Amino acid sequence: MPAPLPVILDGDPGLDDAIAWLLALASPEELDVLAITTVHGNVGLDLTTRNAGVTLALAGADVPVYAGAERPLLCAPLTAARVHGETGLPAADLPEPRRGPEAEHAVNFLVRAVRERPGEVTLVATGPLTNLALAFRLAPDLPGKVREVVWMGGSTGGGNRTPAAEFNALADPHAAHIVLTSGVPVRMYGLNVTMQAVATPERVGRLRGLGNRAGRVSADLLTFYAGVYRERYGLSGGALHDPLAVAAAIRPELCRTQPMNVQVEMQEGLNFGRTVCDVYGVTEQPANVEVAVEVDDEALFALLLERVGRLG
Ligand code: BDR
Ligand code: CA
Repeated sequence: MPAPLPVILDGDPGLDDAIAWLLALASPEELDVLAITTVHGNVGLDLTTRNAGVTLALAGADVPVYAGAERPLLCAPLTAARVHGETGLPAADLPEPRRGPEAEHAVNFLVRAVRERPGEVTLVATGPLTNLALAFRLAPDLPGKVREVVWMGGSTGGGNRTPAAEFNALADPHAAHIVLTSGVPVRMYGLNVTMQAVATPERVGRLRGLGNRAGRVSADLLTFYAGVYRERYGLSGGALHDPLAVAAAIRPELCRTQPMNVQVEMQEGLNFGRTVCDVYGVTEQPANVEVAVEVDDEALFALLLERVGRLG
């Protein structure tokens, strides 16, 4: 069996980030979670950092948390409280964090941790890419030392926050541009695949039926989320956006990917934050991203269910 992949989880919990992190923390054979770094996004940084601690307590895991950027590089902050609730974790029976964040800033930590293990560390990013972009600017050698960035964000098609833009890309388009054009290997799991991975009522029932606290909390979170997804997007439940990125770090074969040139629109206007994916190679520009184009959503859910079932 290969050694587990050293990963840093960077995100903005947010209910699907939390479920994604439960999946990661319950998968020690495949992933060695070195740390969690938090960023602004679904809710403010204080809450995403607290929610990281709550998620670790729920998983019974002792992993350091580093708080990162509290706002995007240039644009005004964006949150998604309507989708994730005012606290970001709308569930009953949540544990208290066991300890607070470390004193070191997430960006300094990222630089240090990647330099300590050049070529080894995978960054699994499930929020706006502000921390990664700041780290890449602070340490221009970093993109050459990161093994891979696995990012939930963007889309080959339409957006979920505007007709053109996906939330994580829109919440910091300039940061997404820096990361996607840095030369770091990137795998992108966008809405074109994550919207197909739906937590239907039957699936939520199976998570609740696990009978453990992590399963009940996951079911509560996905139930809160389902209302918005039914009403706004006409889906039968919430989309498992961030869990798909973590699942693909564990099992890349869950999605078929295609190398493409991807650019982020940074001009304010209708397409602000859009990930412009050259699906047909019409620009003849070199591919900079492996873009997920097909997903085995049954296999994703089976993995999530099995792993959440391992927790307390
Ligand atoms: C992404 O946006 C956030 O609201 C979710 O946590 C996910 O990372 C989906 O567009
Ligand atoms: Ca997220």
